[in-house]
Amino acid sequence: MNQDENIVWHAQTVSQAQKQIHKGHRPVLLWYTGLSGSGKSTVANAVEAKLFSLGCHTYLLDGDNVRMGLNKGLTFSDQDRIENIRRISEVAKLFVDAGLIVSTAFISPFASDRAQARSIVNKDEFVEVFIDTPLAVCESRDPKGLYKKARAGEIPNFTGISSSFDVPATPEIHVKTAEQTIEQSADQIVSYLIKNKIIEVKS
Ligand code: ADX
Repeated sequence: MNQDENIVWHAQTVSQAQKQIHKGHRPVLLWYTGLSGSGKSTVANAVEAKLFSLGCHTYLLDGDNVRMGLNKGLTFSDQDRIENIRRISEVAKLFVDAGLIVSTAFISPFASDRAQARSIVNKDEFVEVFIDTPLAVCESRDPKGLYKKARAGEIPNFTGISSSFDVPATPEIHVKTAEQTIEQSADQIVSYLIKNKIIEVKS
């Protein structure tokens, strides 16, 4: 017998709407996607700092950190990347349900996985942020020395070199980090949140 048949969803007493009033802003999932070294974590941290100073309630799930805990042991095979993103999207959904502005900073190379993440939260709760940095720029930055190793054949399935990255077709926010400062990129994202009435800035 399938065990799932005996699991029943339990409705919760405190509603999402109540949490929203309590928090003072709408919950949202900022889904950062981009190559390794593109600046996802850097920009996501800068945005979180700005949101924090505006009194927002935030949480940041970051690729390398999550792979040290919840997703420890997952490799970079296609199958494990899919599982990595599946778990992250489920965790992010819980944080959205808690009323937070959640940021996820993962390469998330496959469009189908990003579409799946989008599909499990409400339509207006998912904001895809494409951190669009050319491969050559990521490679020249090489903050962790991984591109050098990948080019030397020491890291298999390296995104952009020996594993694919599906360029987002219609991201809500398109950030070109090679053409602006981190500060400008963070402002671009915060402005989107204000314009779309996810957060309100009192003057
Ligand atoms: S994802 O593809 O499954 O979304 P994730 O964002 O969790 O990737 O992890 C990417 C980080 O892992 C990179 O920034 C890099 O530091 C490290 N890494 C190690 N091996 C690889 C690899 N083969 N491809 C890409 N990133 C790798």
